[in-house]
Amino acid sequence: MEQSEAILKIEDVHNIYEVGEVHINALRGVTLEVHSGDFVAVMGASGSGKSTLMHILGWLDRPTKGRNSFCGRSNRSA
Ligand SMILES: Nc1ncnc2c1ncn2[C@@H]1O[C@H](COP(=O)(O)OP(=O)(O)OP(=O)(O)O)[C@@H](O)[C@H]1O
Ligand SMILES: [Mg+2]
Repeated sequence: MEQSEAILKIEDVHNIYEVGEVHINALRGVTLEVHSGDFVAVMGASGSGKSTLMHILGWLDRPTKGRNSFCGRSNRSA
């Protein structure tokens, strides 16, 4: 069966929050694909980066580094 195009696709996504001189590595190289019909749960300890990941998947934030696309359309990091 032919593989469908991913609805959500992120590759090697890093996100760093800069708070003054402190750099917080919230995501360190996350790769994920979500296809039509997939059911996905994001689980992890408090502070592990779940909300940061959701902000990037929802295009509210751009990753510091890495590729992020929705239905083949890219949201490039600056
Ligand atoms: N706006 C921000 N500025 C600076 N650091 C942040 C910011 N948002 C999150 N962080 C830090 O990034 C890391 C990941 O946080 P995030 O909120 O993504 O985790 P989470 O898995 O959603 O946690 P929780 O389960 O408590 O909601 C944590 O170290 C957090 O303190
Ligand atoms: Mg959260």
